[in-house]
Amino acid sequence: MQLDVANRLNGIGEYYFSQKLREIEELNKQGTPVINLGIGSPDMPPHPEVIKVLHEESKKSNVHGYQAYKGAIALRKAMSDWYKKWYGVELNPDTEILPLIGSKEGIMHVCMTYVNEGDIVLVPNPGYPTYTSAAKLAGGKIVEYKLTEENNWFPGFEEIEKIGKGARLMFVNYPQMPTGQQPAKELFEQLVAFAKKNNILICHDNPYSFILNDHPMSLLSIDGAKDVVIELNSLSKSHNMAGWRVGMLCGAKEKIDEVLRFKSNMDSGMFLPVQLAAAKALTLGEEWLNELNNSYRRRREKVFTLLSKLNCSYDKQQVGLFVWAKIPTGYKDCYELSDKLLYQSRVFITPGGIFGSEGNKYIRVSLCSTEEKLDEALQRIQNLITETSL
Ligand SMILES: Cc1ncc(COP(=O)(O)O)c(C=O)c1O
Repeated sequence: MQLDVANRLNGIGEYYFSQKLREIEELNKQGTPVINLGIGSPDMPPHPEVIKVLHEESKKSNVHGYQAYKGAIALRKAMSDWYKKWYGVELNPDTEILPLIGSKEGIMHVCMTYVNEGDIVLVPNPGYPTYTSAAKLAGGKIVEYKLTEENNWFPGFEEIEKIGKGARLMFVNYPQMPTGQQPAKELFEQLVAFAKKNNILICHDNPYSFILNDHPMSLLSIDGAKDVVIELNSLSKSHNMAGWRVGMLCGAKEKIDEVLRFKSNMDSGMFLPVQLAAAKALTLGEEWLNELNNSYRRRREKVFTLLSKLNCSYDKQQVGLFVWAKIPTGYKDCYELSDKLLYQSRVFITPGGIFGSEGNKYIRVSLCSTEEKLDEALQRIQNLITETSL
């Protein structure tokens, strides 16, 4: 049967990593397996107590039915306590929190809730590609705001006021992915003031605040933020639960109700044992985070060494689950270096250009591989350098 896809899919390709993983699988069939330093999927397990709750709860007979659209109160309460403890933000668990199947899901729901055909949506360049695809799927018109190294990867508000006149929604994400830029209180205050002045809803996507970052911050901690800000958060990275699909949207009651109007038509609440296990995860303290971050810190040192071998430059203060680095002159762009490493040394490193044109001279290395794998990647790259004077 010949059936065209809906117009809304025009210009929306398959997600980059979904395609790339197929290419890597093909290479794996042909020879030495590729070391994939691309995707940010934590390779370490959640805390044993979290798995225990899932296990114990799943054995009960009364937990297998549909769940409330707004999630279990035990989970919303745990999310509220977590926001209070780590970010100093008060959220009413009954009205100001909506559990999600990951932050990625929330990005789509937010766009479907607020974006009309042709509405301007501001997205960072470089930034997480899902902001663009979700806003386009909802019919929005994308206006990219540039983040540059010279400006510490912070938005240039004057320029945005010029290019984004009439914008309805702006995506923001600090610690920033892919650049690893940390947030700053002053930046957050400027964002809230900017949103109020220009009547824009800011959606802050905050999944990386606990990774290698000593000062987790919520944009909702700024005075008056709830008037103009909603925040997405996630257990994917901070609790090694990417495959569990647990995230949250936080904000004022009206906003939560509005997004729920859309979301409740799409799915139901998550499997209750997953929600209860997630609630357990959110009670984990400093010890859990210290252990997690100690592993990432050791890995990051190895990644720094690997990047220095490639003559890339990078900021050692960056945070989050990746290292972002500028490629040396001599390469046309990030794709040339990434392909060379993939095909000649069987190490995959993400080309920064997939996050937007401002990433064309950068690459991004994930910290989600063991130290042994990173050593092996380093060795392969060293061999390539020796053989080809890369
Ligand atoms: C900036 C950013 N936002 C959201 C997500 C998605 O997170 P989740 O697993 O909660 O859907 C990612 C995942 O890589 C990300 O990098």
